[in-house]
Amino acid sequence: MCGIVGYIGQNQAAPILIEGLKKLEYRGYDSSGIAVQNHGLCVIKTKGRLADLEQKVNEVGGVEGSVGIGHTRWATHGAPSDLNSHPHSSMNGRISVVHNGIIENYLPLKAELEEKGYHFVSDTDTEVIAQLFDAYYNGDMVDTLIQVIGKIRGSYALGILCSEKPDEMIAVRKDSPMLVGLSEEGNFIASDIPALLEYTKDYYLLNDNEIVVLKKDSIKILDLQKNEIQKEVYHVTWDLSAAEKGGYDYFMMKEIMEQPKSFQATISPRIVDGEIHLDDIKYTDEDIQKIHRIHMVACGSAWHAAIVGKYVIEDYARIPVEVDLASEFRYRNPILDKDDICIVISQSGETADTLAALREAKRQGIRILSIVNVVGSSIARESDDVLYTWAGPEIAVATTKGYSTQVALMYLIALKFAQARGKLSDGQVHALVEEIQNIPAKIEQLLALQDELKALADANANAKDVFVIGRGIDYAVALESSLKLKEISYIHSEAYAAGELKHGTISLIEEGTLVIAIATQDALYEKLLSNVKEVKARGAYVLALAKEGNTEIEKVADKVIYIPQIHDKFTASLDVIPMQIFSYYTAVARGCDVDMPRNLAKSVTVE
Ligand code: AGP
Ligand code: GLU
Repeated sequence: MCGIVGYIGQNQAAPILIEGLKKLEYRGYDSSGIAVQNHGLCVIKTKGRLADLEQKVNEVGGVEGSVGIGHTRWATHGAPSDLNSHPHSSMNGRISVVHNGIIENYLPLKAELEEKGYHFVSDTDTEVIAQLFDAYYNGDMVDTLIQVIGKIRGSYALGILCSEKPDEMIAVRKDSPMLVGLSEEGNFIASDIPALLEYTKDYYLLNDNEIVVLKKDSIKILDLQKNEIQKEVYHVTWDLSAAEKGGYDYFMMKEIMEQPKSFQATISPRIVDGEIHLDDIKYTDEDIQKIHRIHMVACGSAWHAAIVGKYVIEDYARIPVEVDLASEFRYRNPILDKDDICIVISQSGETADTLAALREAKRQGIRILSIVNVVGSSIARESDDVLYTWAGPEIAVATTKGYSTQVALMYLIALKFAQARGKLSDGQVHALVEEIQNIPAKIEQLLALQDELKALADANANAKDVFVIGRGIDYAVALESSLKLKEISYIHSEAYAAGELKHGTISLIEEGTLVIAIATQDALYEKLLSNVKEVKARGAYVLALAKEGNTEIEKVADKVIYIPQIHDKFTASLDVIPMQIFSYYTAVARGCDVDMPRNLAKSVTVE
């Protein structure tokens, strides 16, 4: 999920690789490395920043050679370390590979290769590709790559060098971006345009399962049957700043748009033939049956994801769930039972309050399961078990894909725990898993509502107070929606359990007050509708979210945004999308710095 650069031409490769990787630094990374053809493959790599890599290259007096590959790593399998950094090599040093993505079946492949006598030095999935390529290598890199592709499952953009083919580089992509750069002075591969803008504005955009064979003065693109593919040259007119955001004005919109892919990347390695496999954590069915209570601790949006988790876990697994703000949990002398577990949720894995809450729970001797996006982060390292959200680097301060992938894991935990405790049958779990697998496509549908939501945002950008109401899971989404709006547009906003409004806050509703009513819980719809009528009676302007097919609510609300039909318990994944986009355009209309809102930090590492 991070950065790849490759070069084959008439100039020295190392400087081109490192400069190209620097242009990808904005994507966030934890380590980097290069491999250059120099009478064999010379590999230099390190944990840390690109400056650390440059220092290592300088320490050996530079690396000669005009063919090379480079990588900035965003760890998914194996904590950040020198050994886990890319490029990864085969045991005999003949093959070097850089990889963006996740190989879902790397463990059985690794076991097969170890049976054949291959020794591994890293914890990564990527090293399996290098060893597998070597195991299949028959002198033809394309044939070999086709065999490797037939064995691996997952997402990948790969750049590969073979010491026996010093004048050739091969690459392929599936579900991870990869493009080919063309210039008079050589040819390139890269995971994103910024890496190459300094050298060329002419590219071939690769599609999934297209193999590219690069030489200094030629490029060949083949399908998996080795048929040559002719491609149009894509000429970019972007400048570097626009290119880093993939053509979007802000990272936040880029990350909103990435949610179908990040949701898919988070769930698909954990669902095989309709069964949920949480192999990353060491919970047996017996462990799960023994759980007395679940304490969930988090901050901000992660806390909102935990509240969604409470609703789905309690309803399906029938395990009591307590949700605490981490900053409160750590000081309230919580009563924890030895058979309780603590689920800690954090995108960054570095939030001080959340880390402190984890340590309090650990001090009381209960088992910690964390849900984290950053591999090897403090919270991940201090947990007994970690389920990673594979959202990829999240740059915008306001979380979107981080939150939605946390919610995805709440679903999987709820169903897995329910199945282990006999609360759901295999058939019921399969049906619900299928519903979850349909979510990315439904998110895509909602991402198409940009114009409608932008118009709504523009019309309400001068609102003074906004109230977001909902019941059940819709209340949890109201909390996240309200935070999104206020943290990037600076409009005061409050989320309220719709049934609670009449106990005081309704006194604030006056003519024209914007009330956003999230009305997607079928089981609670009539009650919510009454609440909408209550605020309408006091002059509110109501923007409602409702399920497609609901023709009644438009008679009550002033404006309705429809979401695709989905099981009540999974509506959070859809409801939040229009609210993210509405908040984004409201902030843009108000001239706010969407990616870097005032007073906020991406990771609150102080108390
Ligand atoms: C969400 O948009 C905010 N940036 C903030 O509430 C964030 O969710 C909170 O600080 C927790 O961060 P974490 O998930 O990295 O622990
Ligand atoms: N899954 C690989 C690893 O953890 C690649 C991660 C990335 O895309 O940077 O090393």
